[in-house]
Amino acid sequence: MTETTSPLIDRFGRSIEYLRLSVTDRCDMKCTYCLPKSFKGYQEPKNWLTFDEIERVVGAFARMGTSRIRLTGGEPLLRRNLPELAARISALPGIRDLSLSTNGTQLPKHAAALRAAGVSRLNISLDSLNRECVTQITGRDSIDDVMAGLDAAEQHGFSPIKLNMVVMPGVNEHEVEAMTEFCINRGFILRLIETMPMGSTGLASGYTPLGPVLERLRERFELIPEIKEMGGGPARYWRTVDGRGQIGLITPISQHFCETCNRVRLSVDGTLYLCLGQEEKVELRPLLRAGISDAELEQTLREGIELKPERHEFREAPTKIIRFMSQTGG
Ligand code: 5AD
Repeated sequence: MTETTSPLIDRFGRSIEYLRLSVTDRCDMKCTYCLPKSFKGYQEPKNWLTFDEIERVVGAFARMGTSRIRLTGGEPLLRRNLPELAARISALPGIRDLSLSTNGTQLPKHAAALRAAGVSRLNISLDSLNRECVTQITGRDSIDDVMAGLDAAEQHGFSPIKLNMVVMPGVNEHEVEAMTEFCINRGFILRLIETMPMGSTGLASGYTPLGPVLERLRERFELIPEIKEMGGGPARYWRTVDGRGQIGLITPISQHFCETCNRVRLSVDGTLYLCLGQEEKVELRPLLRAGISDAELEQTLREGIELKPERHEFREAPTKIIRFMSQTGG
């Protein structure tokens, strides 16, 4: 069955056309805002959706109008044979855009295969250019590995390459100018992100409101609002007047963007989460393993979308979310 059925629209009129797919909850880093060092609650491999199961779910979404998939984690490149999965997803009718969020450390090994498998766009996490600061945030001396990953991404022609920087008070907020320079020089798009209170982690570090950070950047760089559509995510983009630099601001706390939310998330254990900051979910794994038909799967997804909440409440109820980012998928 490859013909398209009617698109997924939620109770608030939002069209759901973007699936973020977590392929593992493991990571070779322990970023302070993401996962506590002592975390032990990883999914057992028997609960990981297989590539066949993932392909079925993505196929069902694609038949209902989802055209864009992002592979996330954990660190997605720790999932064995990820390029094979990427190739299978790229080949599904209706999938037009396949991207990957990664910490970059495994890119030297996998960049070529990912590119060949149809991954075109990369988001790479890098919160600082300072070795000690990166070590402190990620829990290990990882800056050389990430830099090698950035080189590999460039060499293999991924475009665009975006750097995600979670801006944290007293940690790296003084580095936004240096990071902007770095990205302009390397041709990367910089994305500044407010820390979300996920689990106990994001809550502890607090967040830096990005409004004042933007004002600071505008003193140093001549920035104008970007009018071009940029990837369809929640970032609001600015560009330097000479067109060399682009900066996206992601402000889940100071100015949420839930009215235009077009996405849902599938975690490695086959749970469909309707909102990063709320509990509504649908457990797909038991259904898949009980032999649900394609038509029933589509119906289940359609009913799941009905559960999508209007908005998150990271600001109003910061202690509410019990899942860590690596569990839901970034
Ligand atoms: N708040 C904001 N961003 C986060 N990320 C991970 N945890 C958090 C958090 N608590 C970001 C990472 C990565 C992206 C997928 O999500 O920096 O770049």
